[in-house]
Amino acid sequence: MCNGIVESISNAFWAHTSAIERSFVLLLVLTLVSTGRGSGCVRPYMVQNSWVNLTETNRGLFPAGTVLQYSCDPGYLPDGPSILTCTTSGRWSSEPPQCIRSCIRPSVVQHGSTNVMDTNRSLFPVGTVLQYSCDAGYLLVGRSILTCTSIGDWSSNLPRCIRNYGKPGPPF
Ligand SMILES: *[C@@H]1O[C@H](CO)[C@@H](O)[C@H](O)[C@H]1NC(C)=O
Ligand SMILES: *[C@@H]1O[C@H](CO)[C@@H](O)[C@H](O)[C@H]1NC(C)=O
Repeated sequence: MCNGIVESISNAFWAHTSAIERSFVLLLVLTLVSTGRGSGCVRPYMVQNSWVNLTETNRGLFPAGTVLQYSCDPGYLPDGPSILTCTTSGRWSSEPPQCIRSCIRPSVVQHGSTNVMDTNRSLFPVGTVLQYSCDAGYLLVGRSILTCTSIGDWSSNLPRCIRNYGKPGPPF
């Protein structure tokens, strides 16, 4: 984040100042940057497979209070907060999110359970495998294993668990 400021101090200037003066200037620059005095937030880095509502003309500092919203492309989901606010200390409220190729959260299978649904996770990156089983007394109809494919789709529909009224079957 210092690069822009440091680069703007010309090479000629550096060549004609003593080491002590250089240290002083560097200290001054670092102080200005670290206190964010009278400034705002620097332009956040770009995130692949996303869109953010800032305009290209907005090249300088963003004033405190600026709100930016990142939107991931279809098939991608953010791995963190997608709304960033420029705080009065000159920092964004968080890093921009990464947009990760991911399947959407599958809905709940009644009378069934799966290996990874016991947490509140919302990201199911490519390659995630879900394995379903049904409660005792229920039969699984459909595929018990779903994989998140490279295009961010589940490999098949969710299975269903239906009441087994017949004689007790083998455990799944
Ligand atoms: C970006 O979008 C958010 C949410 O819609 C809005 O609050 C904010 O003002 C927008 N920021 C800019 C720079 O347009
Ligand atoms: C899961 O989500 C529920 C409801 O949104 C919330 O109350 C709970 O604290 C979350 N649990 C974890 C481990 O994040």
